[in-house]
Amino acid sequence: MSALTDSQEWKKLTQLRATWRGAYATKGRIAALFEQDPHRAERYTRVLGGLRLDLSKTHLDPETLDALLALAKARDVETWRDRMFAGESINLTEGRAVLHTALRAEQPPAQVAEVLTRIDSFVGRVRSGVWTGATGQRIRTIVNIGIGGSDLGPAMVCQALEPYGSPELKTRFVSNIDGTHLATALDRLDPATTLFVIASKTFTTQETLTNATSARAWLVAALGEAAVAKHFVAVSTNGSGVKQFGIDPANMFGFWDWVGGRYSLWSAIGLPIALQIGMENFRALLAGARAMDTHFRSAPLADNLPVLLALTGIWYRNFWNLPALAVLPYDQSLARLPAFLQQLDMESNGKSVDRDGNPVDYDTGPIVFGEPGTNGQHAFYQLIHQGTTVIPADFILVRRSHHPLGDGAHQRILLSHGIAQTEALLQGKHSLEPHRVFSGDRPTTTFALDELSPFTLGQLLALYEHKVFVQGVIWNINSFDQFGVELGKQLASTILAEIEGGARQPHDASTNALIDWSRDA
Ligand code: F6P
Repeated sequence: MSALTDSQEWKKLTQLRATWRGAYATKGRIAALFEQDPHRAERYTRVLGGLRLDLSKTHLDPETLDALLALAKARDVETWRDRMFAGESINLTEGRAVLHTALRAEQPPAQVAEVLTRIDSFVGRVRSGVWTGATGQRIRTIVNIGIGGSDLGPAMVCQALEPYGSPELKTRFVSNIDGTHLATALDRLDPATTLFVIASKTFTTQETLTNATSARAWLVAALGEAAVAKHFVAVSTNGSGVKQFGIDPANMFGFWDWVGGRYSLWSAIGLPIALQIGMENFRALLAGARAMDTHFRSAPLADNLPVLLALTGIWYRNFWNLPALAVLPYDQSLARLPAFLQQLDMESNGKSVDRDGNPVDYDTGPIVFGEPGTNGQHAFYQLIHQGTTVIPADFILVRRSHHPLGDGAHQRILLSHGIAQTEALLQGKHSLEPHRVFSGDRPTTTFALDELSPFTLGQLLALYEHKVFVQGVIWNINSFDQFGVELGKQLASTILAEIEGGARQPHDASTNALIDWSRDA
């Protein structure tokens, strides 16, 4: 037995779980708890600035919450949090600090401040038209080429904050090695007004370097080799790799190994964000995240949003054995948030060994998926309401729309659906017809944002980052490495050589047949 499952806090929670549902249940449904406690909604809601987190539609009661908080205490969440903020090398397998919070600190380290100043000046020059392309025309389109953390964060934020952007400057994102992605992104673009941001922490990622090489060829074919200096900038920790690729180090914006890829949108990886929404708004995004950092560091555990969110997730994952988490933003601008959170959560906490390398005897990170409401309602909510697997769901509501069409009618309809879904999942519905029965008592957490601004988005993203961190601490895993992505990459390089006609290597029969089939590609 691991120290975690052997702990008295874990055993207590296991006992408590049996009191909620099943043969020994003494506790009622969540709906009954609302009837018993007229203050339940306030009791399980916490507000920070323009962000409200409502956990009341979950299986929490005072006894359960106390037991979960005791678990957080016993697992030293506060100590680990302080160690992270202090810059200790808590990413043990890679011997690195985890300091994305320093990127958004009030007084950032000198090296961070210096890069921010360079970004500020570059963004100002591009947005004002002082920086021009090789033909003297101003830049109209930014094409970010990167993948994983070098794509998902900036792409999600640029979409979320589009209304804060300049109509004069558009951003596009290319991540997939599939040529269709780059080809469609470049479709009808004018090389003379296009600026490429090549974003890669390592500057060794095959997809990014291949796409960047093709983008370079596209530019050079139109404007000549000398144009590269005015149309390519890089964001990386790898100065020599950038130079070798042929980008002037003067056009490189650096960051550091203590910024994990999936935590990097606050660094120079956020350059396309700053180019799109301007430096002031980019700083407001950082300030929102900083407000959440400050709260995470100082609020008591019982009032601490990331801690409460993490503990609710642990409760369902480990004690109710629920395998998934649905992320359901009721805002089309947040369409890429589920994809961003998939990397944040699943790459961080999709682990089977603890910090010391011992196999864990408990479940770790959930399967994260989602789509914006109301689209998801017409696709997979059927299973969330009536399927055999209960799926806890995060509903993200935004009060003020960026586009209040029909005098706000669209927004009112949208919100009515989001709120109704949480009520339907809570209450369920009796029916004499079995096909029309809704069991209800299905948990939801509601995030309610007054508006989707750079500041509130910063808060929301940092909330999720710290949630993932707290869960990793409780599970005693390293949330900051991602060795699980390596094996597939290695095998792909062997198989590529074979597809290209090289000597065959031993594989299973299925893989061999697929390689044969691919040789005609
Ligand atoms: O897929 C693994 C990964 O290393 C991610 O963690 C990372 O965000 C992504 O690849 C891109 O890496 P890089 O920024 O070094 O190109």
